[in-house]
Amino acid sequence: MNPIAALLADAPVVLAPMEDVSDAAFRRVARGLGARLCFTEFIRAEQVIAGAALARRKAALAEDDRPTAIQIYGADPELLMQAAVIAAAARPPFLDLNCGCWLPRVSRNGAGAGWLRDPAAMVAMVRRVVDAVDLPVSVKTRIGFGPESHMPIVDLARRLEDAGAAALTIHCRTAQAGHDGPADWAWARRAREVVDIPVVVNGDVRDAEDVVRALADTGCAGVMIGRAAIQHPWIFAEARARLAGLPPPPPPDDAERIRVFRALLDANVAARGERWGVQVTRRHLPLLGPRLGPALRARLVTATSHAATDAVLALS
Ligand SMILES: Cc1cc2nc3c(=O)[nH]c(=O)nc-3n(C[C@H](O)[C@H](O)[C@H](O)COP(=O)(O)O)c2cc1C
Repeated sequence: MNPIAALLADAPVVLAPMEDVSDAAFRRVARGLGARLCFTEFIRAEQVIAGAALARRKAALAEDDRPTAIQIYGADPELLMQAAVIAAAARPPFLDLNCGCWLPRVSRNGAGAGWLRDPAAMVAMVRRVVDAVDLPVSVKTRIGFGPESHMPIVDLARRLEDAGAAALTIHCRTAQAGHDGPADWAWARRAREVVDIPVVVNGDVRDAEDVVRALADTGCAGVMIGRAAIQHPWIFAEARARLAGLPPPPPPDDAERIRVFRALLDANVAARGERWGVQVTRRHLPLLGPRLGPALRARLVTATSHAATDAVLALS
């Protein structure tokens, strides 16, 4: 069986790679709440090759941080190949090539979704990376660059499979759409129908009900969840319960929200030092929810030490 399909077989719910969000601390939380598979934030090939501290931190996988795929990005096939060989040394279950980032600072130079401007070059690049490493290689991409009259993703899926890609994640929007407009999951279904490798559908999966619907509508091997997991990482447990036909877990109460926020705080301080760790944990304020969030926000954004942040949480 395809190793990525095997990973997803019992629980097809995946935490999306998200820069400055899906770090080791958040992956641990998401996994604890039921995410079956995680991805690192995207890591620039040039930084991997240079051994930059940031790249090393992003690519580091602790023993309990598995299965987590390492995602790299870049515009130069040679550098992507070299970076892939280095990243493979961390022995993730597979490597992922980002061919979907729409941000102009990335795609303008041909990296990320920039590859969708030249599908033939993208396929050739994937083939080279696949040949360079002894790990499975997957590709995360979009349905097209935009505004093509005919989206390339179906034909591209076939060609990426031929090039040796072990799985595809499809964010069902064009690069030009960014995060605007609805994601059209039908493209993931069309692509899935023409390949044997697992396809993971992504885009606008907002709750457990969407997970079930996305799987049913597309027949995909997995569902990747990004922004909804920032707001509500409990989505993984809720989706797994729905998929297993079990009653939904109780909604998170204030104590549970504080527990998760505190876990992120402790992990971030341990990984990044007190000042930075406290600061980056504020990214996770949305998970405190509509009652606690507004009540604590003002005090949490001014608390600069671990103890002061803990004290705010204790008051809640
Ligand atoms: C804050 C943020 C950071 C992201 N960083 C990455 C990244 O590093 N690599 C990547 O492939 N996609 C990245 N994405 C895109 C997500 O992985 C996902 O494809 C997109 O958000 C659509 O899924 P969603 O509707 O569930 O959020 C990012 C998205 C967000 C919101």
